[in-house]
Amino acid sequence: MRHSLDSITDKFKQVFATNPTVWADAGGRVNIIGEHTDYHDGFVLPTAIDLRSYAVASGREDGILRIYAADYDSTVEVALEGLEPFQQVDWRSYTCGPFWSWIGAGRPFSGADVAIASNVPSGGGLSSSASIEVSMLGIAKTLSCENPSCLDIAIIARAAENHFCHVPCGIMDQMASSCGQKDKALLIDCRSLETRLVATPTNWVLVVADSGVRHSLAAGEYAKRQVECKTGMETIISSYPDVKVARDVSMDMLNSVKDRISEVSFRRLRHAISENERTTKAADAFEAGDVHLTGQLMRQSHQSLAKDYEVSCQELDTLVQIASGIEGCVGARLTGAGFGGNTVNLVHKDAADNFCSELKAKYHKASGIETIVRIVRPSAGLLTGRF
Ligand code: GLA
Repeated sequence: MRHSLDSITDKFKQVFATNPTVWADAGGRVNIIGEHTDYHDGFVLPTAIDLRSYAVASGREDGILRIYAADYDSTVEVALEGLEPFQQVDWRSYTCGPFWSWIGAGRPFSGADVAIASNVPSGGGLSSSASIEVSMLGIAKTLSCENPSCLDIAIIARAAENHFCHVPCGIMDQMASSCGQKDKALLIDCRSLETRLVATPTNWVLVVADSGVRHSLAAGEYAKRQVECKTGMETIISSYPDVKVARDVSMDMLNSVKDRISEVSFRRLRHAISENERTTKAADAFEAGDVHLTGQLMRQSHQSLAKDYEVSCQELDTLVQIASGIEGCVGARLTGAGFGGNTVNLVHKDAADNFCSELKAKYHKASGIETIVRIVRPSAGLLTGRF
């Protein structure tokens, strides 16, 4: 781990020549199953992890926000009054946007000096952006002595990502990063925003493996999937007026309109519907300790994402295929938006060290890419405090 609360506190002192008064630390997340379902009001099963973002701050009264990002060794300074989304979206948007969104939600805030650092790999499908947004809101909450729920924080963070960073994401990442709990996964109903805590089975660990690929087309393709589903949904809604979103559609309904929607929309919706079924089943199996069923559903999820939703890539498929042949691994799939980033693997704890080295070596042989394979622990979401 590169960063910690201690290291970012030292940086804060160097940059701002004073001591911070508050801290916040929020998890990245790994999604076990339930991919590309959150923006269809469906189900997801993520957990916050121990790769995290760390922020420290002291308050100001003059309406100025200064943020130092250790990962870029750079500082942004803005006046809160009249703050608007930046022309170009970069780290400044992800750090300033949450404060803009916080004020937009009617919460008080008079300015701050903030330092932030993240151990969540950027663009790797492990929600580095959500963990940064949520840690920024942890600072806003602690400095302003407000007491929003973890769900309130997730909603405000998502609004920042949607409207300040212009990313049309669902709520999964921000909820995991804000509401996660140690040793638990969260089954989130993305319509009601209710969560059920799902205990992670003892003796099994989650391993993430980085494909090393970062596809810049991910953002455009992500929005395109939403359009492809929407087009199919219009036909379904015209036949079934009670239906509002893909979450309401059964496989029978989808099949009944098969010859009236495009083949692409059909496959996209087939993924959204089948993934919801797999996710609720996997949550029950996970909780009951039936890791083999959970793993089987994870493998099916990957196939559906690769073939029907088409958000995988050759490197992710290679990682999943190699992982599935290594002893002790019962399930492997891409995690997050796809098109690169990480896979998540469910592995017996006694086999985990060997799994990590074998996957790394075999992936390198197959692709020429040096990957990082690591065990991640289901962890708390947002933690905050005062010095
Ligand atoms: C990204 C988005 C999430 C979700 C996933 C895919 O991580 O931020 O809202 O849609 O992709 O499941």
